Amino acid sequence: MAVVITIDGPSGAGKGTVCARLAEQLGWHLLDSGALYRITGLAASRKQIALDDDAAVAAVAAALDVHFEPLATGVQVMLEGENVTDTIRTEKVGSLASQVAALPAVRAALLQRQRDFRLTPGLIADGRDMGTVVFPNAEVKVFLTASAEERGRRRYEQLLDKGFNASLPALIEDIRARDDRDSNRAVAPLKPADDAITIDSTELTIDQVCEHVADLVRKAG
Ligand code: C5P
Repeated sequence: MAVVITIDGPSGAGKGTVCARLAEQLGWHLLDSGALYRITGLAASRKQIALDDDAAVAAVAAALDVHFEPLATGVQVMLEGENVTDTIRTEKVGSLASQVAALPAVRAALLQRQRDFRLTPGLIADGRDMGTVVFPNAEVKVFLTASAEERGRRRYEQLLDKGFNASLPALIEDIRARDDRDSNRAVAPLKPADDAITIDSTELTIDQVCEHVADLVRKAG
């Protein structure tokens, strides 16, 4: 079976950037599992399905017509032929994602779809439960975290760069609420796998984090 490196952690810890860079450096596949929950939340809300109706949202998750197309600028996400790459990154869709992610049948419906990404030569899997549930036998497991204030500040700068208005205290509050929901849910809560190595990126640059993870991969290989 192909090698898997799992990188789990709360939103804003830098997982997305680190995973994309590593996948590119190694020439491996990339699983952005959060995108699957975001797409499920978006698709269910468009179909006006109640976001606490586990069976109905799971049916949407099982039937998703979604494609990830690698481009030079990143991965383009297509839902039923529509480019939803930017739409799924909004705070609103992040909140839909975290609501549907708390539903057990939805998580079960997305499990095999995520495991199908494990292809040679290897996979970098980005999420909350990659090392605990989806790939429990992964070769390297990382738990990447940072303080809520620092994660809020990073998100704030990203939004300003894109020309959006944002309130830093509101962003930190959102991040705390999402952490709380993700860590305290009954199924697949956000927590490090027993055999994960925790990296706190609060005081580190993205380059330093990538170097640290690449080092773990070299040592494991
Ligand atoms: O990583 P991202 O912010 O895109 O994830 C959106 C939401 O999807 C998270 O807040 C979390 O609730 C959920 N999620 C999850 N399990 C994963 C990935 C994401 O529950 N493996």
